[in-house]
Amino acid sequence: MCGIVGYVGTRKATAIILEGLKRLEYRGYDSAGLAILQDGGLEVTRRVGRVEELSKAASKLPLHGTVGLGHTRWATHGGVTEANAHPHVSSDGKFALIHNGVIENYSQIKTFLLGKGYSFKSETDTEVLCNLIAYHYAKQPRGANGGSPFLSSVRKALRHVEGTYGIAALCVDFPTEIVAARKASPLILGVGENEYLLASDASALVSRTQNVVYLKDGELVHITNRDFAISTLDQADVSPVVDRIDWTVEEAGMDGHAHFMEKEIFEQPVALENTMRGRFSEDGSTALFGGLNLTPAEMRQVDRFMFCACGTAWHACLVAEHLIERFARVPVEVDYSSEFRYRNAPLDPQTLFFVISQSGETIDTLAALREAKRKGYRVLAINNVVGSSIAREADGGIFQHVGPEIGVASTKTFTSQLLLGAMVALYVSRMRDMSFNDGVDYVKALRGAPELVRRALAQAPHIKEVAKRYAHYTDFLFLGRLSLFPIALEGALKLKEISYIHSEGYPAAEMKHGPIALISEKCPSVFLAPRGEIFNKIVSSMQEIKARKGPVIAITTESSELPPGLADEVILIPDCHEAVLPIVATIPVQLLSYYIAVERGCDVDKPRNLAKSVTVE
Ligand code: F6R
Repeated sequence: MCGIVGYVGTRKATAIILEGLKRLEYRGYDSAGLAILQDGGLEVTRRVGRVEELSKAASKLPLHGTVGLGHTRWATHGGVTEANAHPHVSSDGKFALIHNGVIENYSQIKTFLLGKGYSFKSETDTEVLCNLIAYHYAKQPRGANGGSPFLSSVRKALRHVEGTYGIAALCVDFPTEIVAARKASPLILGVGENEYLLASDASALVSRTQNVVYLKDGELVHITNRDFAISTLDQADVSPVVDRIDWTVEEAGMDGHAHFMEKEIFEQPVALENTMRGRFSEDGSTALFGGLNLTPAEMRQVDRFMFCACGTAWHACLVAEHLIERFARVPVEVDYSSEFRYRNAPLDPQTLFFVISQSGETIDTLAALREAKRKGYRVLAINNVVGSSIAREADGGIFQHVGPEIGVASTKTFTSQLLLGAMVALYVSRMRDMSFNDGVDYVKALRGAPELVRRALAQAPHIKEVAKRYAHYTDFLFLGRLSLFPIALEGALKLKEISYIHSEGYPAAEMKHGPIALISEKCPSVFLAPRGEIFNKIVSSMQEIKARKGPVIAITTESSELPPGLADEVILIPDCHEAVLPIVATIPVQLLSYYIAVERGCDVDKPRNLAKSVTVE
């Protein structure tokens, strides 16, 4: 995820901004830049790669200004290039802008601005917003109402923008000021001694001040070298509440969470919102994907899908298989990338390939993609990293937009993959037999997913208690059926990889074909048992376990009626649409694994023998 740093004060801004950017490095980024106001102009330096490269470049320049902005960019619109790195400067040279988030209507605004004579050097939505600010500034009558023309031009521009943003702007006509604003992208003002800092994450400013104001959505802050003022997009004044950060610099990088994995689990509602943002049709009945590079007519010709991936991403493929077959009635095959690449499978000519990989660098998945392309198939990728090998080599695809995942175990990237699988199922279904009304219901359900995930996350204290009671066991079974069978596999994988406890996932009814031999009071079974057509069959499987003294942890929906006393522990999730159920049911298995691993003192963010990106065969 991109990072923002700003400084207004009496010291040289460059060193302070670079230090802030260094502290944001953990979030992942692919380029960095800074803009310093000095000598009546803007000094802008940008580099692809590390903040270190930017520091080296900056050290060669006579940067002495005391007001400036810095940014680390994680590419979303446009590739990883110096031209696309922030800050962007308006074509009249007056404004510099840094931006986190996505401006959804940027192409309409760009067309408008091109007509007004503004020009563009990058492919980014940020440069469009920067020029829009310049446009409003240029056409503003001076001295009309005594308000700041800098502030009001930013405000006017933001009123025309759809999407999300955390922004900060400089203007050469106001050399001691910054204007910043946020909507669904965090922004924090640090109030220091004779200085103000701005950051997207407390870790970037906590070494200079612990007094902060958390900006709320729809608020702007106007910072000068003497004071600051907060107002809304509607021009209402806001009385600032100054909070005190009680974290250390080291802790701040995790926003107060004990581990990145915990932070990323709790980020999932926002991650899901970012994944689906701008991806539904205006009539709210289907999904829209900009980068498939496939016409609807070509998609309509597909009579089979093949999904390839590894590990957690492979589980996401299994859920996509279930939903596409269930709703679109198109056959789907799923394979491990590592198997597909060597097994020389016979394929139907009208097959469309999907690979799923959060990193975009998994060597087996890359090889599966190449093998499918070599055979002449079109391959689309679901991926979280713009510019990754898989993103570059695929014929098209869908970016997840959930920001970098630091914890080795996939969490938010997994639920975002589940969401995109559900959206692909919707897109294909609406080209076939799904009615408009069913499509509208499906879209509503997907839009409601973040809130349901928040409700599932609210069970965290209870799950932590359950984890404490079960952390000493050395074997676990995870059991589920239909779309929750892959979530059982995912629960077992999460637990084994971060806590080193032996665990296995099975379709619940398969248990009696072998795994039941493992059942004793020493082997707990985690059941995924939502209300639905086969709830009673899952209950029967639970009874078989109880009859053999196996402890039962039941993850079930709020409205289901489990026979009293059958489960030793019950974890509730909200009732939800079939397309959303796998996402919501994932939350308790992630939390259970996480808390068990913490209870056992494991290094959850860096489990032994594992890497975030598996680039060897
Ligand atoms: C488990 C996990 C791995 C990855 C697998 C594929 O938590 O993260 O199983 O899912 O290595 O990685 P990507 O998605 O990068 O291809």
